[in-house]
Amino acid sequence: GAPIDLDLAPIAEGQAIKLFWRGKLIFVRHRTKKEIDEARAVNVATLPDPQPDQARVKQGHEQFLVVYGNCTHLGCVPLGNAPGDPKGDFDGWFCPCHGSHYDSSGRIRKGPAPLNLPIPPYAFSADTKIRIG
Ligand code: FES
Repeated sequence: GAPIDLDLAPIAEGQAIKLFWRGKLIFVRHRTKKEIDEARAVNVATLPDPQPDQARVKQGHEQFLVVYGNCTHLGCVPLGNAPGDPKGDFDGWFCPCHGSHYDSSGRIRKGPAPLNLPIPPYAFSADTKIRIG
């Protein structure tokens, strides 16, 4: 599939949108300051799939998180995008299928999922615009 351009300006702070690229579900989240701080406060060495938040976002655009949107356990779609959704114990996403909790960096923190939500290839083309692919 071809790359797609996406304007992030309409995504309100604290909310996320879903889209499909190459047939795969992607979440784009506009994180709050609190969510960024929480993602960076954790001791990375204690994580099931240790990755610093800094390696999962683009420098200077830390408020935006772009991840593939299928649980790394058995592929269900975690909740946490819409207002009022459960976000799990770590202000990220909660997978209702078997109870995996992802944090505000999309990293697995609790439950049966083995890996963090992966990051698709993308780059910023302007302050609030990305190109995926
Ligand atoms: Fe998400 Fe099993 S598919 S916890």
